[in-house]
Amino acid sequence: MSKKILEINNLSKQFIVRRNIYTKSRIDAVKNISFGVYPKESLGLIGESGCGKTTTANMILRLVEPDEGSIKFFGMELTELDEQSMRKLRKDIQIIFQHSSAVLDNKMTVEELLREPLRIHKIVSISEENREVTKLLNMVGIASSERLKFPGQLSGGQNQRIIIARAIATRPKIIVCDEPMSALDVSVQCQILNLLIKLKKELKLTYLFISHDIKVVRFLCERIAVMYRGEIIEKGDTEQVLKRPKHNHTRELIAAELGLGD
Ligand SMILES: Nc1ncnc2c1ncn2[C@@H]1O[C@H](COP(=O)(O)OP(=O)(O)OP(=O)(O)O)[C@@H](O)[C@H]1O
Ligand SMILES: [Mg+2]
Repeated sequence: MSKKILEINNLSKQFIVRRNIYTKSRIDAVKNISFGVYPKESLGLIGESGCGKTTTANMILRLVEPDEGSIKFFGMELTELDEQSMRKLRKDIQIIFQHSSAVLDNKMTVEELLREPLRIHKIVSISEENREVTKLLNMVGIASSERLKFPGQLSGGQNQRIIIARAIATRPKIIVCDEPMSALDVSVQCQILNLLIKLKKELKLTYLFISHDIKVVRFLCERIAVMYRGEIIEKGDTEQVLKRPKHNHTRELIAAELGLGD
């Protein structure tokens, strides 16, 4: 197999939460996890609510500072980068969150929202921006006639397409998708999933795909890692893990979601 794009080693994060004025407690949100992502693959990170998936994603983007461990992107140690270098790298490591409407600035038109990443990361010259915006809209299935609308005038699914267009605008090496469909209606979820699959093929994208929906992960991801209470309890080829889970909790997760397993 080719060299890893992303390599996580022994990554940990604890949160200290105040229970009342006298006591604090410690949450081991992520405990000593290690995994890698290879070029052009989709790695699914699955697990029940609260198991540490979003904390992991946030640490990769350095939106949350890890306590311990290493995050290597093409061999470069991200935990040692200063803010400015990390900001530049956002072009290469994009993230798509669950709640798209909360992310998009409602005072900006669709066109402005797509020009923004192109300009910040100097992807094309100003004279080429218009053409690039049209191309991006076309790629994510939004009619060019919608370009002067504001996010509030679009549906949830359309907004998620704009988020995806902004993510692919910078031609990233990897996209971290954190439950990108879970806030949408089931029929729209299916359309967004198909869009992500289409873009993966067309642009040879690499995804770290976070979800608790095993069906979606099975459809999209060649490999999966299963998290449980902050730890990765097993990982491997998706079908192998789903057909022959080694860990009891993975079996329970599969049984709950797919009605399979023991
Ligand atoms: N900023 C924070 N301060 C304190 N505790 C936090 C913080 N962020 C996350 N946690 C806790 O860390 C644990 C892991 O949370 P995380 O959001 O990573 O889970 P998740 O797997 O993404 O869950 P979900 O599927 O519900 O999105 C949880 O117990 C959560 O309450
Ligand atoms: Mg989460």
